[in-house]
Amino acid sequence: MKIDGKAWRTIWLEPDGRSIGVIDQIQLPHQFTTRTLRSCEEAAEAIRTMVVRGAPLIGVTGAYGLMLALQADPSDAALAAAFEQLNATRPTAVNLRWALERVRDRVAPLPPAERAEAARTEAAAIADEDVAMCEAIGEHGLAIFQQLAAARPAERQGQPFNVLTHCNAGWLATVDWGTALAPIYKAHRAGLNIHVWVDETRPRNQGASLTAYELGREGVPHTVIVDNAGGHLMQHGQVDAVIVGTDRTTRRGDVCNKIGTYLKALAAHDNNVPFYVALPASTIDWTIDDGVAEIPIEARSAREVTHIQGRVDGGPAAGQLATVQLTPDGSEGFNPAFDVTPARLVTALITERGVAPASEDGLRNLYA
Ligand code: MRU
Repeated sequence: MKIDGKAWRTIWLEPDGRSIGVIDQIQLPHQFTTRTLRSCEEAAEAIRTMVVRGAPLIGVTGAYGLMLALQADPSDAALAAAFEQLNATRPTAVNLRWALERVRDRVAPLPPAERAEAARTEAAAIADEDVAMCEAIGEHGLAIFQQLAAARPAERQGQPFNVLTHCNAGWLATVDWGTALAPIYKAHRAGLNIHVWVDETRPRNQGASLTAYELGREGVPHTVIVDNAGGHLMQHGQVDAVIVGTDRTTRRGDVCNKIGTYLKALAAHDNNVPFYVALPASTIDWTIDDGVAEIPIEARSAREVTHIQGRVDGGPAAGQLATVQLTPDGSEGFNPAFDVTPARLVTALITERGVAPASEDGLRNLYA
């Protein structure tokens, strides 16, 4: 996607061929800066602190993290330690484990001297495949949006097609395009009169900061709303569809996504609003069935609840990023980062291979 006319991916191999460049997402939307990752430790730290985030992107960062580790020490012991270090950074998105296993399984049989180069090739392939998968998700989602828009009653045909999304499942969460936002970009480019309701997505506000930033750069009309507004908008016919991403999808089609997604699915169900989940194959965990019982939910720092980051808009510190405390001294916070939406609340899964019911048969028909 383009920022000020320049095409960017979220992660890239630097010209030295040994270090990795990433967009620093902690500084967005107020400052666009990049960082260079030179070691496995730096890659792990970037994932843990959410300099990079979003399920597909942390998978690719993990893959390059193994490359960085193997450049320093290509031994079996170093490979195993780096795998564990990176895999422990964030527990919910299965893309991380998937990408780490893919690189490890590719390089482990090789002589140590060949491992770093092979990891570089494999990580680059994962990144390129992610871009292709996300663009294909965009095409399949576009067809759904076009059908839904055309099926609206005659008096609503001239109005914007309103889509609600939660968190950031855009190009910043992937390598390019995004998952849930890819159909939105495709629709906008195809000339559909689309408007996006952007859930702010407390506590880290990925919607208000990242999704709004992306949509703005692409010129997609959008409005940021507080997380609690979606149900009200649905009751008043102001949402034509909901589309979100997922960090882990079970084989029966339960989806685990940013905290608050489940409440949106319940409201959509109650108001007959279609609820779509967009995902690449790397998000499917074929080893588990019941998402509520089996998916590990990351508990992040309570400080993300009790404090909030923003840009100071006046006074001597105007323009600087600052963190302020929201809660009284002494109040505790609790911060589960994800929740699970059961398959029964999902209208359909939109994958790179096409659209499927959220069920084991639906997924197996696509991926058998
Ligand atoms: O905690 P984050 O910002 O990494 O959470 C990201 C999400 O929940 C996304 O919706 C999910 O990774 C799907 S992204 C394509």
